[in-house]
Amino acid sequence: TYVVTDNCIKCKYMDCVEVCPVDCFYEGENMLVIHPDECIDCGVCEPECPADAIRPDTEPGLDKWLKINTEYASSWPNITQKGEPPDDAKEFDGVEGKFEKYFS
Ligand code: SF4
Ligand code: F3S
Repeated sequence: TYVVTDNCIKCKYMDCVEVCPVDCFYEGENMLVIHPDECIDCGVCEPECPADAIRPDTEPGLDKWLKINTEYASSWPNITQKGEPPDDAKEFDGVEGKFEKYFS
């Protein structure tokens, strides 16, 4: 599966949603997550993210994010169409510690 990671937080560009063939993105207030049981591993979303926030879970160190994607995909609503990204998305690109401060 692919997972959405830290840099999505407060960037939330949603380009990923537009390309996913199985609509497996779920929407929180400040970020999206992927439902690991629904993702078919096609990989097309990874290069689409302007914040470079999507990774295959085969990369090392992503256990935390696999957990978060799994947990929140079952409680957040499904998102199938790109919405308006936050006005200040660019300012949050690459900011450290977004999970601790802004995860929601
Ligand atoms: Fe959707 Fe493919 Fe990305 Fe999985 S890898 S979330 S199926 S676009
Ligand atoms: Fe987040 Fe990137 Fe999608 S910023 S909403 S994972 S396009």
